[in-house]
Order: sequence, then C-alpha cells, then structure tokens
Amino acid sequence: MKNIVILISGGGSNMAAIVRAAERDRWAERFGARIAAVISNKADAGGLAIAKAHGIDTAVVPHKDFATREAFDEALAKVVDTHSPGLVVLAGFMRILTPGFVGRYAGRLVNIHPSLLPAFPGLHTHQRAIEAGCKVAGVTVHQVTTELDHGPILAQAVVPVLPDDTAATLAGRVLAQEHLLYPRAIAGWLLDTLSHKP
Ligand code: GRF
Repeated sequence: MKNIVILISGGGSNMAAIVRAAERDRWAERFGARIAAVISNKADAGGLAIAKAHGIDTAVVPHKDFATREAFDEALAKVVDTHSPGLVVLAGFMRILTPGFVGRYAGRLVNIHPSLLPAFPGLHTHQRAIEAGCKVAGVTVHQVTTELDHGPILAQAVVPVLPDDTAATLAGRVLAQEHLLYPRAIAGWLLDTLSHKP
C-alpha cells in the first residue's frame, strides 16, 4: 500500500477534496494508495477535524515550538516518516521547507500553488495577477524542489480574470479549480508510478 501524507496549515479544503476523491474513486483498490495521515503546523487548522471525521490519523507539529527551520523540519520529518510515505502532499502548507526536508522526499513531494507558475511565485498571487492586468489566472501542481514554488509542473488549470474581479473573487474561482486539479494530478502521479514499477 502506498501511503499518502498530507501537510496543511489551515482550512484544508484541498486536502478534503483529495480525501473525497480517494474515497469516491477507490484509490486503495485502483492504485493501492491511501491517505495515511494529515499533519498540520498549526493546532487550530480547520482541516484537522475534517481529516478526523474521515477516520484519518492526524498530528500537529507546531513550528513555533522550534528555534530554527531546520529543527522544525527535522521534527516534522520524524512524524511524516512514522507513516512510511510514498507521497507527501503539501496542501496549503504555509511553511518554507529546508533543502534537507525537500531532499529527503525528492521525487515524492508535491505542492499546489494558486498561480500559473512560473508567474507569481510566493504570496498574494491573485492581487498581483489583477494588478499586472492578466486576462487569465490559474493554478499549478508541481514537484517541490529547493527553490520556492518552482519544480517540474505536473498539471495546470486556467480561469479567466474578469473586469470587476477582486483578489477574493478571483481566489474563489481559482480555488474551485484547485479542488478538481489536485486530486486529478495525484491520481495521475499514482498511475504513472504504478506503470513504472519494475
Ligand atoms: C490554496 O489556495 C492553496 O493553493 C494555497 O493556500 C490555499 C489553501 O487552501 N497554497 P486550503 O487550506 O486547501 O483550503
């Protein structure tokens, strides 16, 4: 069984979309994959209750308890590794990860970013897209490398930017696509991994 560990920091709507897709599309049966755990760096992340309601193991590793990024990432990796992850999924996980953490999960660490990368890495992507006069915006699922919001692109979806959009209305339109794209991209990754099995 391939274990998927999802890291969140907040509401966890992307995590919930992945969990729903795994149940609906029978990932265990079709891909031999299951969501093994949801881990947050914040104890009050709303997504933790959603995960528990689906019978998924949860854990909290508060980044504030650690003096350095390296110490936090070490502690986080220890908890992640207790679930023997085949894939680690960042879903609204709002911490920059150290090269040590990224290297440990190289090739099996993915992220979702609410812009059409390589445009607008970092924060405030929707406001920046509006201010740049973009006519389209969107979302990217990519493999994580040591450079923030870079790495090989696995999937993208595009939405229009409408004339009266605010950052909030655009974010809502993009988020609806995130919920479709992320489960699809992970299912594609699982399928690909299966077909490359020796
Ligand atoms: C999403 O827009 C994600 O792309 C970004 O943060 C947001 C998290 O939302 N990195 P949620 O926690 O999945 O609801």
